[in-house]
Amino acid sequence: MEINRVGVIGAGQMGAGIAQVCASIGKVVTLCDIKQDFVNNGIATINKNLQRSVSKDRISQKQMDDTLCNVTTTLEMKDLKDFDIIIEAIIEDVSIKKELFTDLGLICDSKTILASNTSSIPIGILAEASGRPSKVVGMHFMNPVPVMKLVEVIRAKTTSDDTFDTTFNLAEKLHKVPVLVNDFPGFVSNRILLPMLNEAMFCVMEGVAEPEAVDTVMKLGMSHPMGPLTLADFIGLDTCLAIMEVLHNDLNDDKYRPCPLLKEMVKEGKLGKKSGEGFYKY
Ligand SMILES: NC(=O)c1ccc[n+]([C@@H]2O[C@H](COP(=O)([O-])OP(=O)(O)OC[C@H]3O[C@@H](n4cnc5c(N)ncnc54)[C@H](O)[C@@H]3O)[C@@H](O)[C@H]2O)c1
Repeated sequence: MEINRVGVIGAGQMGAGIAQVCASIGKVVTLCDIKQDFVNNGIATINKNLQRSVSKDRISQKQMDDTLCNVTTTLEMKDLKDFDIIIEAIIEDVSIKKELFTDLGLICDSKTILASNTSSIPIGILAEASGRPSKVVGMHFMNPVPVMKLVEVIRAKTTSDDTFDTTFNLAEKLHKVPVLVNDFPGFVSNRILLPMLNEAMFCVMEGVAEPEAVDTVMKLGMSHPMGPLTLADFIGLDTCLAIMEVLHNDLNDDKYRPCPLLKEMVKEGKLGKKSGEGFYKY
């Protein structure tokens, strides 16, 4: 199946990036969120990213203009009803995502593929909620979407060959490197990454070292391009906590217990870069 029209739901840091990369290869994209301010912020993010690429001579002004022309916005999910694929990038909350997939299953054409950019929630749960399980797949982009090459394409037990192949091909057309991953909580990326970030938080909580020192150890000692606490701030501490909770509950193993400091910071509204403060101030 050829994908021409892409709906992206959730205009936050991931949704804006996904809309941008789809629009940049000529897809017709509609970005949907629940408030006008949020879609406006999404478009502002795309604008800023493209402007930076123009100023670094990575793309021409015309490519920027063409990409922006391919993106429209809406607050109404029903505007996406006859799209070829919908990529969901709303907050990492299983009950809100399930509700959204149920609505999408009712609203969208039977041909529409429903993809989720979830970081951790098993795709099978969303597939079941949609009432059209063969059409549901995971399409897990990395942050920042325009820069990072990897896309985990998650195949649930019910995902059809056509749904999987079309999604995998779309990721390739986006100049990404898709990797087939089976449907487990946290998939591969966050099953491995998040426990490390969580452990870095335990180091701070227990007084092993200050955040800067923890990050420096991992950057200089392990050649990580970014320290784990900087990365956690960048992902969003609310998203980190949500992922740890999925790993802890669904894999039923205490080795995934979220660090109490992480819980405390999220409760205080310290969500990282997006709220202006996390392990660092922005
Ligand atoms: N942040 C990361 O590094 C990262 C990386 C990969 C995947 N993800 C996943 O991508 C998803 C989005 O993460 P984010 O960091 O962009 O979050 P974010 O908080 O930046 O954005 C989420 C957006 O979803 C919107 N939203 C919430 N409920 C909605 C609904 N019912 N309908 C429409 N819009 C709704 C919010 O208004 C907000 O604009 C999550 O599932 C997250 O786990 C995040």
